Amino acid sequence: MSKKLYIETLGCAMNERDSAHIIAELEEKESYALTNNPKEADLILINTCSVREKPEKKLFSEIGQYAKVKKQDAKIGVCGCTASHLGDEILKRSKSVDFVLGARNVSKISQIIHQKRVAWVDIDYDDSTYVFSQNHHSALKGMINISIGCDKKCTYCIVPHTRGNEISIPADLILQEAKRFVDSGTKEILLLGQNVNNYGRRFSSPHRAINFTQLLHEISQIDGLERIRFTSPHPLHMDDDFILEFAKNPKICKAIHMPLQSGSSEILKKMKRGYSKEWFLNRVEKMRSLIPQLSIGTDIIVGFPTESEEDFLETLDVLEKVRFDTVYSFIYSSRPHTEAHYWLEEDKVHLVDEEIAKERLNRLKDRHKEILAEDNAKQIGKIHQVLIESFDMQNLFLEGRSDTNKLVRIKDKESFVGSLCDVRITEVKGAQLIGKLA
Ligand code: SAH
Ligand code: SF4
Ligand code: F3S
Repeated sequence: MSKKLYIETLGCAMNERDSAHIIAELEEKESYALTNNPKEADLILINTCSVREKPEKKLFSEIGQYAKVKKQDAKIGVCGCTASHLGDEILKRSKSVDFVLGARNVSKISQIIHQKRVAWVDIDYDDSTYVFSQNHHSALKGMINISIGCDKKCTYCIVPHTRGNEISIPADLILQEAKRFVDSGTKEILLLGQNVNNYGRRFSSPHRAINFTQLLHEISQIDGLERIRFTSPHPLHMDDDFILEFAKNPKICKAIHMPLQSGSSEILKKMKRGYSKEWFLNRVEKMRSLIPQLSIGTDIIVGFPTESEEDFLETLDVLEKVRFDTVYSFIYSSRPHTEAHYWLEEDKVHLVDEEIAKERLNRLKDRHKEILAEDNAKQIGKIHQVLIESFDMQNLFLEGRSDTNKLVRIKDKESFVGSLCDVRITEVKGAQLIGKLA
């Protein structure tokens, strides 16, 4: 009988991809099978995120809960960004943890599970050319890492500390992985990196010159691949060439995540984002002029140290002008090993009052809800191309994502799962669109 693996994945798409790698490695090399019940697992893994303080703090109570319910001989491993960040300390603080594996060291998973009470968190480790085992289960959508780490030093962000410097994965490996996905039935590929459009700036060994725009073009030539998405691009690197390829390549979905962080050029400077409010709006305008139906998502931090009401109004102004389709918004959380954290420690800046930050976050969320309701209502009668991903047997509807990344439900038959269908929108419920096959 195969051993059972339970894995909990927190954080961003990079962590989801790392978990997929871990699962594939353990299935192939160590004969594990996935379970969604920690009580029957032989190995429990927590793939952690440390981008904000709260989830990181919850880690130890979570370990305690798993330790209570686990089988007697089951092991517990902590992986991901908090593993990189806290390393050995996790072993010191919790006797229940068997090993700690950093976000940069995922390729060593099948070795570390045989070790006792070790922490492998080598931040300089380079697994950019490691070929991970392939997941055998065919899936409509696949994720591919195109780079590891991040070279930016945004002053609020712990990621460069947890994932190390940025290295691009060789283009041939990416193309091979994409072809393997397509051969097993995958229709849509999501390219991943902390800063995807910086692709090609540094490889670990000599490589032909290639940038993100060229990579997108090469991937799109794979026969049988229908859709390409990517996340996250950095607004600074969205040059005209990229925008033209994005607009004219029919396989690239017309949805983009553009992390704004703040609408105030002053705050953006303090965040070291490298662009201004005007540049961000200019890029949006250029893309919208070529792709009127473009859907734009974003990340926003409120309450970055020194953010004034005027700064925040600039953020609201960008929201009014861009009318984002999705907004992930967060209150600033001070993270160790970041520049802003040192400014706070040295009293050079102060935190925005918590109540004020909460009030700003609510204002932002409320206004975005109104915008979304107004814009979604305009979708009624329009036709969207939807990749049908699943069929709900109980309620008898199909579900999928439009080219513009909106969740769409359709009352129809199961047989359409896996197809790209034109759907006419008839109704809107919150962020969800409901329609009929056109
Ligand atoms: N590489 C991506 C972001 C990765 S982190 C980019 O450049 O946008 C994901 C999101 O978490 C960020 O976009 C940011 O909005 C948020 N975030 C990062 N550090 C944070 C902090 N210290 N406090 C609050 N939110 C933070
Ligand atoms: Fe963090 Fe900035 Fe890198 Fe994104 S680009 S991961 S926000 S340092
Ligand atoms: Fe992702 Fe969280 Fe790490 S957002 S990169 S898992 S700190």
